Amino acid sequence: MRSRKNIKTLTEFIIERQSEYPHAKGALTRLLNDIATAAKIVNREINSAGLVDIFGYVGKENVQGEAQKKLDVYANEQFIAALQAGAECCAIASEENEKVISFKNEFSELGKYVIAIDPLDGSSNIEANVSIGTIFSIYRRKSEIGGGTLDDLLQPGVNLVAAGYVIYGSSTMLVFTTGKGVNGFTLDPTVGIFCLSHPDMKYPEVSNIYSINEGNYIYFPEGVKKYIKFCQEDDPETLRPYTSRYIGSLVADFHRNLIKGGIFIYPGTKQHPTGKLRLLYECNPVAFIAEQAGGKATDGFNRIMSIQPESLHQRAPLFVGPKKMVEKAEELMRDFSAF
Ligand code: AHG
Ligand code: MN
Ligand code: MN
Repeated sequence: MRSRKNIKTLTEFIIERQSEYPHAKGALTRLLNDIATAAKIVNREINSAGLVDIFGYVGKENVQGEAQKKLDVYANEQFIAALQAGAECCAIASEENEKVISFKNEFSELGKYVIAIDPLDGSSNIEANVSIGTIFSIYRRKSEIGGGTLDDLLQPGVNLVAAGYVIYGSSTMLVFTTGKGVNGFTLDPTVGIFCLSHPDMKYPEVSNIYSINEGNYIYFPEGVKKYIKFCQEDDPETLRPYTSRYIGSLVADFHRNLIKGGIFIYPGTKQHPTGKLRLLYECNPVAFIAEQAGGKATDGFNRIMSIQPESLHQRAPLFVGPKKMVEKAEELMRDFSAF
């Protein structure tokens, strides 16, 4: 039996941390709690979607596409509802909504924060029962009062107040940073509480995993091709050849690499020079976590967190992982920049 004194809940943890900020009034604490609440509801739905998929196999062709879409929309609705009800946030940018959702009610208009969110990441993996996630970025608003605006959301990652993700995997975890390290909380499904399970997460010293969708190899820039070849060379001293692992859910790939030591790359291609992943709610939050865990995140040339966003759904190439691995990839990108 587990002893209660060894468990620190998410709520206990953030209240304890709040005391480190003498002027904090608990708004960020409430915001993180709102996110955790929505995550638990989404988690419940994801788990039962799995059951429906198993028992509903005959209806696969018609229903699964719809079910998957339904979960994207469902997750979006849950996070929006929780954040609107919590009233600490005055606007949201979501992957599922073309424009900023500005909360216009007397409580939310006083909210100090804005959030960019990918409510369900890796949603094409749902029907295969593969890990999926939610990713979020939290910024302080720039406007003074009223519903939040596009301008409040178009901030570079260096302005982030907090960022994190939820991974709905073999267990469900919430991992986040407020700029003082990275902490991971595992959902105890028996009581519905996130408990601190991974304090002060850091990339391991030894890293030998690379994650990239090699199916796109012919379209990659020369630097990325050279890096893949570097990963595959025989050099036992540097643990090469590295191991290749690619799930196709950013949250799951990133989380595994954080725990086990690996680089994740989603590069630009000639046809899509900015790649696929979105700066505001995919690249920036994982970049903040990576940096706080002793790693690095760039677009191949520049720090992800320094990019000034110009539009809500802007994309950026992403190279994220342990510092040394990312720096090696950057070196080859500089030397072989052509496509
Ligand atoms: P989303 O489900 O939010 O649209 O994100 C999917 C993303 C990301 O999770 C993953 O890293 C990437 O798509 C995989 O893309 P490829 O299938 O092109 O490898
Ligand atoms: Mn995504
Ligand atoms: Mn998504």
